[in-house]
Amino acid sequence: SNVGDNKISEETSILISTLPSHTDFRANKLCNYQGSWYYYNTLQGVLNFQAGFKPQDTDIILASYPKSGTTWLKALTVALMERSKSPSFDHHPLLSDNPHGIVPFLEIDVYHESSSPNLAKFSSLPRLFSTHMPMHAMHENLKDSPCKIVYVCRNVKDTLISWWFFGSAIHKMEPNRSLLESTFKAFCNGTIYYGPIWEHVLSYWRRCLEDPKKVLFMRYEEMKEEPRGQIKRLAEFLGCPFTKEEEDNGLVDEILDFCSLRNLSGLEVNQTKKFNKVDRKNFFRKGEVGDWKNYLTPEMENRLDMIIQEKLQGSGLKF
Ligand code: A3P
Repeated sequence: SNVGDNKISEETSILISTLPSHTDFRANKLCNYQGSWYYYNTLQGVLNFQAGFKPQDTDIILASYPKSGTTWLKALTVALMERSKSPSFDHHPLLSDNPHGIVPFLEIDVYHESSSPNLAKFSSLPRLFSTHMPMHAMHENLKDSPCKIVYVCRNVKDTLISWWFFGSAIHKMEPNRSLLESTFKAFCNGTIYYGPIWEHVLSYWRRCLEDPKKVLFMRYEEMKEEPRGQIKRLAEFLGCPFTKEEEDNGLVDEILDFCSLRNLSGLEVNQTKKFNKVDRKNFFRKGEVGDWKNYLTPEMENRLDMIIQEKLQGSGLKF
């Protein structure tokens, strides 16, 4: 996935030699650190983050498991925060950069190479960051801070299908059955980048139950189902609710249209260039709920349902 070429420190190599490891279907190595699987260079980013990140009170962190709607959440949040600065969409930051360029990943971009990166780019407040790390990986850094986290959660089966297509695209492979089966297995076993997915989702779900002012738990399906209600919820959580005047002027719909998959994917900035070696256009595909029904066999569906039921038992969370 978004795997860069940062250097693994000697200290990290020693740590890695003590961690459980797994080799993926392309012979790339993952290791399990604090319960999650990371490629080595991402682990270096996580360690740099843990060693160096100090939140500011107003920070906003957009969190997700990969392929759960990260790009959409970033675009919506940028559009919400930006509306006081650029009321028209003519010179909007989303026209000149991809949502991932505007809201970089802490462990993959910002802390990729160093535990003390230059944060000058984030001088205007609030600072917007993103992450695919589970909540517990950030706990020590964030525990005394009032900074806010927005988590987007998506149906596991659609996330899996989205991963399969994305994985094929970035590895320039056909999205064939054999790749689907290895992705399926990796999801089930949890031995996948940032997995297991259930632990990921639960880490944010539990934190949200403990402190709903700290973590907003959003769902991709609800955002699709009732986008107006969900974007208002997001705006309120971020402390910038829509005014009556804005609502009367149709700004809610304007932002939703601007951030729609159709609009964003059609922008020149998202059709050309790469982000972390990934063609930006690969961040946009179908954006539908239930696309998994076209690809998973009934056996795969049953197996996932059983695992989900077992893993989420008693949590109050439904996928
Ligand atoms: P599909 O592969 O099911 O189409 P992420 O942003 O976390 O990488 O997730 C990618 C998924 O979100 C893809 O799902 C992609 O099509 C969808 N997506 C991207 N931009 C979107 C948008 N503006 N609105 C709705 N869905 C979007």
